[in-house]
Amino acid sequence: MTSETSLLSTRAVPPRERLIAALDVPSPDDARRLVTALGDAVCFYKLGFELLMSGAYFALADELAGAGKKLFLDLKLYDIPETVGRAMRSLRARRAQFVTVHYGARVLEAACRERGELGILAVTVLTSIGPDDLRDLGYPAGVAAEQLVIERARRAFEIGCEGVVASPLEAARIRAAVGPKLAIVTPGIRPATAADDQRRVATPRAAFESGADYIVVGRPIRDAVDPRGAALAIQETIASVFA
Ligand code: C5P
Repeated sequence: MTSETSLLSTRAVPPRERLIAALDVPSPDDARRLVTALGDAVCFYKLGFELLMSGAYFALADELAGAGKKLFLDLKLYDIPETVGRAMRSLRARRAQFVTVHYGARVLEAACRERGELGILAVTVLTSIGPDDLRDLGYPAGVAAEQLVIERARRAFEIGCEGVVASPLEAARIRAAVGPKLAIVTPGIRPATAADDQRRVATPRAAFESGADYIVVGRPIRDAVDPRGAALAIQETIASVFA
């Protein structure tokens, strides 16, 4: 075993459930079309803000759950702990695997108290945050985003979160710092040749070899000429990584 493969996820997750396709589309009908096109190539979906604003988010979520799909509700909750706890209490009847909550120790504690069977994924530091944003938020010069990511991931785990959302480039350090039980979910996944606005990217194989438990893939599937073929190619890679 190489030092890279030693970071491979040890969670008991069927390989096909390690691919989470982002339904980044404007309407439930667009989402249904994409889900139908993907068929059995994808069994886990992330529903984010764009669909939330369409107004039919939860009806679609229930429909997908009823069809046997696993769900990641990317709601990125953040408010005073009391309000986040109450929101989680309303949400926990949904059949979903993951819900995102922005970091804040007391906010995450409130979310975890009310989560029921939902897995809370902490958003530690948004990947769009750079040094200037940290200064603007009041952090002293010299505090790096990566350092905050590791500290917050450790704290989120202590609080009882199921996992964190992280750049694939941060996954290895998080895994080393927090251990195998914290789920690491990595967006920013690209086939080797892609060029778009994501900067901190990795291929599916590299993300898993860095310790990711799940990968979130949006545009490389949604915008492919053959979305199902693109998803199946990623599934083949995942099957070979976890063979
Ligand atoms: O199209 P792409 O594969 O970049 O989509 C990635 C998905 O993951 C999007 O839904 C995006 O909102 C989400 N995401 C991200 N970076 C984060 C957190 C979430 O790209 N740090």
